[in-house]
Amino acid sequence: MDLGVKGETALVVGASEGIGYESAKGLLEEGARVLICSRSADKLKRAAAALEQATGAKVPWFAADVTRAGDVARLKDWLGQQAPALDILVTAVGGSHRALFEELDDAAWIASYEFNVLGTVRVIRAALDPLKQSKAGGRIVVFGAAGPRMPYPNQVVSNVHKAGLIALVKTLGAEFQPFNIRVNSVSPGRTLTSLWTTRAEKLAKERGVKPEDVIHEFSEEIPMKRFGRPEEIAAMAVFLASHKASYVNCQSILVDGGIARGLV
Ligand SMILES: NC(=O)c1ccc[n+]([C@@H]2O[C@H](COP(=O)([O-])OP(=O)(O)OC[C@H]3O[C@@H](n4cnc5c(N)ncnc54)[C@H](OP(=O)(O)O)[C@@H]3O)[C@@H](O)[C@H]2O)c1
Repeated sequence: MDLGVKGETALVVGASEGIGYESAKGLLEEGARVLICSRSADKLKRAAAALEQATGAKVPWFAADVTRAGDVARLKDWLGQQAPALDILVTAVGGSHRALFEELDDAAWIASYEFNVLGTVRVIRAALDPLKQSKAGGRIVVFGAAGPRMPYPNQVVSNVHKAGLIALVKTLGAEFQPFNIRVNSVSPGRTLTSLWTTRAEKLAKERGVKPEDVIHEFSEEIPMKRFGRPEEIAAMAVFLASHKASYVNCQSILVDGGIARGLV
């Protein structure tokens, strides 16, 4: 299937590894020109080299921490030079904080908000002018989480903030229509990236078990009895960013092996 993005330009933020990296790879495989961004220059260099090796394409990169307004201002300047007209923006920065309500102080709530919500808002703001210049109409894909659709225990702060991202895409998908920009989100379930391998190692140490035992335990709740692979989640972002999804707007699509099964 031709997704129609050949020759278009995309920016993927949070692309040095995990789901963002696979989203960048998927877009490159569809023939898009892809720019990548995340915090660590070393990780970005390695990711750009791996993407070039896999797809043959040169991948320009820019190091920025989306929790820092100054970094995102510099990203905006760089983007203006690299892609005065941007077709696709994918934001894949975020994560959950495993803690009970009583363990969370204001600083923890604010840090999660900056990481999950404000960072995404800043990146969208930085990319908005170039997205308005897209000839085919801009597309924004935000990675949320399945959590707010079936709030996990011990994750109140990210359940709340990822729910905010669903409200963000549903609002912006309407507000940006005068600019011909579609906005959607992908809500991943448990996916085997460093986010989970690190967590499994920590929980395993606390419980005196092996990390694979922790992954097995958390897989049991998933109807498919396994975690997702990052490329399985990224495939939905590539589709939503493509012209095959030309009438999909303001949606939050679960890709979670069936863990969140609410009727609405
Ligand atoms: N994995 C899951 O089970 C799961 C489940 C639900 C939702 N999600 C969501 O899916 C998205 C991707 O998750 P993932 O598992 O692929 O994450 P990941 O493996 O932890 O990768 C995160 C990426 O974002 C970059 N990053 C982290 N903090 C950043 C910051 N402050 N500024 C800029 N870049 C930053 C990282 O690179 P640097 O370290 O170099 O910055 C890396 O490239 C996130 O929004 C996450 O919440 C994941």
